[in-house]
Amino acid sequence: MVNSELLMVNENTFIRVFEDSEHLSRYTAAAFVAAAHGAIMERGIFTVALSGGGTPQQFYELLASPAYADQINWQRVHLFWGDERAVPPDADGSNYKQFKEAVIDHVAIPAENIHRVRGELDAEFAAHDYMRQLEAFALAHECVAGNLWPPLDLVLLGLGGDGHTASIFPYTPITIGRPTQAVTADYDGRPAHRVTLTEGVINDARQIWFMIKGLKKAAIVREVVQGARDVDRLPGQRIRPKNGMLTFLLDQPAANLLQ
Ligand code: 6PG
Repeated sequence: MVNSELLMVNENTFIRVFEDSEHLSRYTAAAFVAAAHGAIMERGIFTVALSGGGTPQQFYELLASPAYADQINWQRVHLFWGDERAVPPDADGSNYKQFKEAVIDHVAIPAENIHRVRGELDAEFAAHDYMRQLEAFALAHECVAGNLWPPLDLVLLGLGGDGHTASIFPYTPITIGRPTQAVTADYDGRPAHRVTLTEGVINDARQIWFMIKGLKKAAIVREVVQGARDVDRLPGQRIRPKNGMLTFLLDQPAANLLQ
C-alpha cells in the first residue's frame, strides 16, 4: 500500500500526490495491475495506450518485475500508444522500443496484441495506418458505437514543460473527428516528426492517468489544472474524459504550486 494525498478537482477528476517519484511509480504499477484485473473481469480484455518520455520509465521497469507482472494475464492485454515518434521501432527515441525493452521483452504478451504506431513510415502514412488499426480493433471487438476507435480502458499521459500531452503541442491544429494525426514539433531535442492520438480518442477512455514528476513541471501543472482555460496554449487542458475518470498522479515537487 502506497500512501498519497487525494484531492478532488470535480466529479470525474482527481489528483493524487505522492511523497516522491518512487512511491508514485509503485502506486502506478499496482493501479495498473488493478485496472487490468477489473477490465479483464468485466470485458475479457484490457486495452491501454502508453506514453513515452522519462517519467514512466521507473513505473515500466517495476511493472515488468515479477511482483507486478506475474499478477497480469498478458494474453488479455492489448497495447496501444498515445503517441509515437517517426523513427524505426529499434531506434533510440521510439516509444515502442522504450516499452519493449522495459516490459514486452519480459512478459508473455502475444505479438498480435501489440498495436504499435509504425514509426518507420512517413508520419502521415503512419497516422493513417494507426487510424486503420484502431478502426479494425474496434470492429473486431464489437466495441464501436458509431465511432472509429475503441473506448480504451486506460490512457497513460505525460505532460511536457510547454503543456503538451501525447504529441498534441501548443497551437497544433487538431482535427478532433480524426482519431490520429501527424504532427511536427521540436521538444527537448527529441524526434520532431510524430503521430498522436487526438483528444477524441483520449477523452473516450474509461481511465486517463497523467503521470507527472519533478519541480520543473510544477508551474505547468498549476496552469493546466488551475489556470484559465486556454486549450491552444495548454494542450493538457484538452483532456477531459467524456464518461471516464481523469487522475493526475504527481510527486510532491510537481504538486508544489497547486493551491
Ligand atoms: C513523447 C511523450 C510525451 C511525454 C512528455 C513528457 O513521446 O514524448 O509521450 O507526451 O509524455 O513530453 O516527457 P517527460 O516524461 O520526459 O517529461
